This record gives sequence, C-alpha cells and structure tokens, in this order.
Amino acid sequence: MDLILIKNGHVIDPENNINDKFDILIEKGNIRRIDKNIEPFSGCEVIDADEMIVSPSFTDIHVHLRDPGQTYKEDIRTGSMAAVAGGYTTVVCMPNTLPALDDASLIRYVIEKGEEVGLCRVLPAGAITKGRRGKELTEMALLKDAGAVYFTDDGAPVMDSHVMRKATEYAGSIGSFVADHCEDLSLSENGVAHEGEIAAALGLPPLPPEAEDTMVARDCIIAIHTGMPVHICHVSTKVAVEVITWAKAMGAEVTAEVTPHHLSLSDAEWLDFDCKAKVSPPLREEEDIEAVRWALSSGIIDFVATDHAPHAHHEKMLEHHACPPGMIGLQFALPIVLELVKKDYFDMKRAIEVLSTAPARKIGIQPPSIVEGRKAELTIFNPTESWEVNEESILSKSKNTPLLGRKLIGKVKYTFYDGKIVYKG
Ligand code: DOR
Ligand code: ZN
Repeated sequence: MDLILIKNGHVIDPENNINDKFDILIEKGNIRRIDKNIEPFSGCEVIDADEMIVSPSFTDIHVHLRDPGQTYKEDIRTGSMAAVAGGYTTVVCMPNTLPALDDASLIRYVIEKGEEVGLCRVLPAGAITKGRRGKELTEMALLKDAGAVYFTDDGAPVMDSHVMRKATEYAGSIGSFVADHCEDLSLSENGVAHEGEIAAALGLPPLPPEAEDTMVARDCIIAIHTGMPVHICHVSTKVAVEVITWAKAMGAEVTAEVTPHHLSLSDAEWLDFDCKAKVSPPLREEEDIEAVRWALSSGIIDFVATDHAPHAHHEKMLEHHACPPGMIGLQFALPIVLELVKKDYFDMKRAIEVLSTAPARKIGIQPPSIVEGRKAELTIFNPTESWEVNEESILSKSKNTPLLGRKLIGKVKYTFYDGKIVYKG
C-alpha cells in the first residue's frame, strides 16, 4: 500500500516534544504529513488509531537471540518476530552464543542474518574477552568496525578487575563502551533465589544481593577513575541504585538499565517451586522493586532493557540447580511499563523515553522520531487493551516466563519498520 493514513492517534514523541492528537500520512514508507484532520484519499489504507498511542518504535539493547549455536531456544527470525510484536524495531543481541561473538566474522554473520529476516534492526554486542573466558581482551576495534555496538561478557561478569579496567579504557578509547553483568561469583556461589525469607522458607540456595552490589560499586569506581563509560546491565537491588546514584553524582559516565521482570515480579514467584522464576540476577523483594521503579522514574536508571533470555521447555523443567537462568521479555516490556504509568511512578512521555529514545541514544543510533520526511518507524499501541500471555500469543520460540496464563494490559497493534508494517496485532 503506497498511502497509509493513521487517524486520530495520540502521538507522543519525546524527541521533538509532540504530545497531542494528530493524523499521520505515510506515503511510500515516508512520513509525508503530520496534521490535525487529514482527509483520507481514495486508495489510501486508513488505520483508526482512536484511543491509541502512536510513538517512535522501541529499542532493546539487551536480548539473547541464541544464534549461532542454540537455535532450538530462539533464532534471529523468531527473536525478530517477538521484538516487533513487542513494539521494538532495534534489538542488540548478546554475545553469549556458541561460539561467543568474539570475532569480526561472527559479528557480520549476525548482522547479515538480521538483514535477511528484515523485520527489525538486529545489532550485535561483541564479547569483552575471548570466548567470554574473562582473561584476554577481544580485538574490540575490529569488532566495532564489523558492526558491534558495544561490548559485554553478559551471562557472566568480568571477574578480574584489571581486565575490566583495561576493557573499559579500550572500549571508551574507540568511542564505544562496556556493559557488565554485575555478579561477584565468589558471593553468588551456587545461589538460586534471592537471599531472603522466601529462599529460606523454601530451602532454596540463597543468592545474596551483595553479589550484585559489590560488582556495581567496582565498575562505578572504574568508570570514575578511567573517565570512560560503563553500562550496568539489569540493575535489581536498592543498594545498587544507591551506588549508581553516588557514581553519577561523582560525574562518572555510568548508565544503567532495568528489566521488565525486575520492575514487576518478586521472589514470591518461587512459591510454587517453578524454575520459570529462575533468572540472573534473581527476582528480589518488594523494597528492591520499589527502588528500581523510582530510579527509572528519576533517571538514575536510564532505560528499560528486557534481557529477553529464551530457554527450551525441557531446560526450564530441570531441578533448580541445573536449570539455566533467564526469562523471555520482549512482548512484556510495554504492558509492564504502562502499569507503572497507571500507578503514577512516571508519565507516558517518560514511558516512551525509557523504551525508545533513551536506549537508542545510548547505542549511538538516531532515535526513531515521528517527523515529516523520515521513514516511518513507529509503534501504535492500545494502552487499555488486555491480552493473555499464552503459547499462542508468545511469538518467541521459547515460552519461559512466569507470566504464562496471566493477563497484561497494553497491546501493540502495529509496528512500522523501514516504512513498512512489520507487525499487526
Ligand atoms: O537470566 C539470565 N539469562 N541472565 C543472564 O545474564 C544471561 C541470560 C541467558 O543468557 O540466559
Ligand atoms: Zn546478564
């Protein structure tokens, strides 16, 4: 369809301060006109967006797409399908694949595969260390030239502080940055569930919050001394929030993300002993959840990233010590963030910012924006429509989430990427 008219949508674009009802005319994929009351032309497809919000599409800088090596869990096609169903048009996939993304040819492989699928922008993060073994730095400059948008050993921390310091300097010096999965392995040991009343009552091996907090502190201190950027992955504790607040006040170039599950689910998810609750870092207590919500509201936590971590059914059925940590998230971020708007933690503009503009800016891509002349890259969602999380509604290859069977409010109706409709819900 050459002409598409989006009628009566509430357009919210934090990039250029639009927050009002407008009609949007898209011609051959380009935003031709944004105006009050554009009359439909003959032969023009009309999308009735009354009661809906039209926003720039979302960016998720932390997803696991499992390609190469574990495509029985997810692949770049199914991951892209879940992404656009969640309103995302840019995803950054993690290098904890088999083999790890520690070589330029593997970075190129992911980019080419993403382009072949063509549903959204798939950008790889490169590994910090060869084989993610935590010892020898990768050739970050070559990986960056091949298209790696940042560096992380995610799934595992960089335990050696000297290696982390060198990595931070190297990545920063080439105009990139490192992101750390903050977990001191000597403190987390064989922990499975957050150390607290629930783990104690259920007899689950406890994982103390100090494992995260000490590592966040170390990385912040490295950022302060090197003057280089450090990004903290999946912040989940109240103490980590305080440490990041302090580092930012010291002028450190520290940024932080929070996942939808750490914003909404507590360690009470363990009460039925279902390992779908197992994730790293673990689901925490109410006080931690409250802290990360307010930190997202104030900007101490910069944006949301899903840490979408698909695992096969048979893997999540294993006993708690053997089951891999992780839960999917690409389709749940929007409803979970909208719930926080409803509960008055922040407004709709901030909601769009944390899903869209802020993460895009972090990885140095031009944030999608609803302006005349730009290619249409936007998401239309109904903020009040409820839907059930089940095997059919989840488009990811894996269905591992404690949300199975629950109702969420907020549904993506259309996602536009590169001027085309790539998802219709
Ligand atoms: O729960 C998690 N799963 N946390 C991580 O850091 C890695 C991820 C995975 O790869 O499954
Ligand atoms: Zn991680």
